[in-house]
Amino acid sequence: MKREQLPPEKDGLDINLLQKTLSRSIFGRNIIFHETLSSTNSQAKALGDQGAPEGTLVLAEQQTAGRGRMGRSWLSRKNENLLVSLLLRPPIDPDQVFVLTMVLALAVIEGVRDVSALRPLIKWPNDLYLGGKKLAGILTEFSVKGKKIDYVILGLGLNVNWGPEDDGSILFPATSILAETGTRVSRSHLLFEILKRFEVYYRKALCGDIEEFYERWNKRSMVLGTQVEIKSDDGSLFGTASQIDRNGALIILDEQGQKQRILCGDVSLRVF
Ligand code: BTN
Repeated sequence: MKREQLPPEKDGLDINLLQKTLSRSIFGRNIIFHETLSSTNSQAKALGDQGAPEGTLVLAEQQTAGRGRMGRSWLSRKNENLLVSLLLRPPIDPDQVFVLTMVLALAVIEGVRDVSALRPLIKWPNDLYLGGKKLAGILTEFSVKGKKIDYVILGLGLNVNWGPEDDGSILFPATSILAETGTRVSRSHLLFEILKRFEVYYRKALCGDIEEFYERWNKRSMVLGTQVEIKSDDGSLFGTASQIDRNGALIILDEQGQKQRILCGDVSLRVF
C-alpha cells in the first residue's frame, strides 16, 4: 500500500485524556511525560532505582537515543508513534520475566486490532510483524534484589503513524498502522486500549493464570513450524521452531532432532 504523506500530528499525545481514562488503572498513578527524552526505558530504569511505584508510565514524543535489543537503536518521528515504558514490580523470579513481554505483545496485538482491524503476528521474542515488516518492538529490562525481581521495565515502540523508510540502512523492513491502512490513528486512544488489556492480563499472569495466554501467543506466533537460526555470542544454532513455553522460552528441534530451550537473553533469531 502506498504511504500517505501527511504532516505530523498537530496535537501531541493527549495526556489529559490518558490521565482521565486511566484514572482507575495502575498506569494512571504516575504518568511521566516528556516531549524529548534520550530513552523512555533509561528514564524508567532511573526512576525504578529511585523507588518509583509500580505502574509508573514513561512517555515521550521523541527519543534521542531510543534503544532496541542487542544494542540496536530504535527510530521514530516526533509526535507520530508510541514510545512508552511501563515500570512494574512483580513478585516473581527473574526467569519468569519474559512472560510479561509476551503478555504485553498480546495486549498490543489486540489493541492494534481494535483500532485498525490489522492482525500483527509475534516474532519471538519481542517483535510484532505485519506481512513480513516490523510494526513494533518490546525491550524488556529488569533489576534483581536478592533472588527476586526489584523492577521490570517493558519498553514499547509502536509505529502508529510513521515507519522508517527501507532505504537500505535499516536492519529489518518496517511498517506502521498508517502505512498498512492509509488511516491515522489516535495514539492516546490506542495506548489506552493496550494498557487496559495489559493490566488485566498482568494480574492474571501474577496469579499463575497463564494457560489462555500461552495458547494465544502460540497461535499468533509467526515462527512456529519454520526453520530458524538462533545467534548468540556462542555461535549459531539451526532448527525448527516448535513452541513457545509457559515461561516465554522458544523450543526448537535442532538438526539432531533434540529439543533445545532458548531463553530470550542475548539471542537474535532469523526466520527462513
Ligand atoms: C527492539 O525491537 O529490539 C525493541 C525496541 C523497543 C523500543 C522502545 S521505544 C520505547 C522504549 N524506549 C527505548 O529506548 N526503547 C523502547
